[in-house]
Amino acid sequence: MLFKLTDEQLMIRAMVREFGRKVVAPGAAERDRTKEFPGEILKKMGELGFLGMMIPPEYGGEGADTISYVLALSEIAYCDAATAVVMSVHNSIVCESIHRWGSEEQKKRFLAPLTSGEKIGAFALTEPHAGSDPVRQITSAERDGDEYILNGTKRFITTGKNSGLVIVTAKTDESMRHKGISAFVVEKGTPGLVVGHEEDKMGLRASDTTDLIFEDCRVPAANRLGKEGDGFKIAMTALDGGRIGIAAQSVGVARAAFDAAVKYAKKREQFGQKISKFQGLRWIIADMATEIEAATQLMLSAAAMKDRGERYTAQASMAKLFASEMVNRITAKAIQIHGGYGFTKDYEVERFYRDARVFTIYEGTSEIQRIVISNHIFKDKRIPRSSG
Ligand code: CAA
Repeated sequence: MLFKLTDEQLMIRAMVREFGRKVVAPGAAERDRTKEFPGEILKKMGELGFLGMMIPPEYGGEGADTISYVLALSEIAYCDAATAVVMSVHNSIVCESIHRWGSEEQKKRFLAPLTSGEKIGAFALTEPHAGSDPVRQITSAERDGDEYILNGTKRFITTGKNSGLVIVTAKTDESMRHKGISAFVVEKGTPGLVVGHEEDKMGLRASDTTDLIFEDCRVPAANRLGKEGDGFKIAMTALDGGRIGIAAQSVGVARAAFDAAVKYAKKREQFGQKISKFQGLRWIIADMATEIEAATQLMLSAAAMKDRGERYTAQASMAKLFASEMVNRITAKAIQIHGGYGFTKDYEVERFYRDARVFTIYEGTSEIQRIVISNHIFKDKRIPRSSG
């Protein structure tokens, strides 16, 4: 095996696994039905240090490496993908961006309530007409003394309703393309920040996805992350980390679907024997296991590059592309193995299939990941690889 996990990484995985199976998994199907946000679970996750995993202890975090984080996120996704996406956006995109780009004062002010779980973070980049092409966003931030006035609508914002703090990007200079975009931290309760339409989604139903509307929303200039014009770079670097997180979610859901399929195949009988005895089924199971292992290695490899401080943009996109497409194949096969029962809500594989569908779409579609990877190939004139 390429990766030998350290004792600390194994310990973190075991701890999150135990928590996930005891606390997160039991209510997942019911929350999917009722769309109830897992607020209490997230509070416990904050107490246990799962909401500031990669943030150093001086800002209230755990100081864990990215490998530990993706292992933890996979374990939560195994139990409930809706809880995992909240954890993923909060840790990889929001906390890491503030830690990476924030001033000392901003880190002290914003990270403590995030790492403790008092506030959940959201990230507002996408707009109704700017999804894959966020440079075309039109939300504006106009400077007025020591404040900015934000106007515009953000769409498909994970935890838009239940977050306490949002990183939002907006145009500070319309003439400057991506260099005219800046990023701001906006706290909930700021006048002019309104939660708009909530989506009624196919999957991840316990995680809210909403519009966020900014109507003459005054934000202190002290809340701007980085310099004016840094917003696009802040978003892109955040998404590099976020995309390893989506790979981790994919691996977690795929493992859950795989385990359910194996369990079912061992007990279901047709033609006078367990269906696990049929070679046709065993080959499907073997292919599923192989694909999950390949995605896990890509995920760990991208995480290891990030931990070593190397440029990992292409590897994050490869991990996200392969793992998100893999989990869609795996969950479809898991339903097929369950036959008619897999199409009912009596078996979890039906939820896994719905939850996984968005993984090839959010944090950059599969097509966007192929653009990122191919840009690296033509720019660097070689296949991006993790081993030198
Ligand atoms: N890291 C650092 N800088 C980066 C970067 C990266 N990964 N990617 C691009 N940049 C920089 C470039 O170097 C360039 O800077 P300079 O001009 O200084 O050289 C600048 O950004 C512009 O780069 P491009 O010209 O390549 O930008 P582009 O407009 O062609 O777009 C893209 C590139 C990869 C297609 C990008 O637009 C993209 O990733 N689109 C998808 C957006 C996305 O993933 N949205 C998901 C929404 S968030 C979400 O889903 C979260 C959730 O809630 C679950």
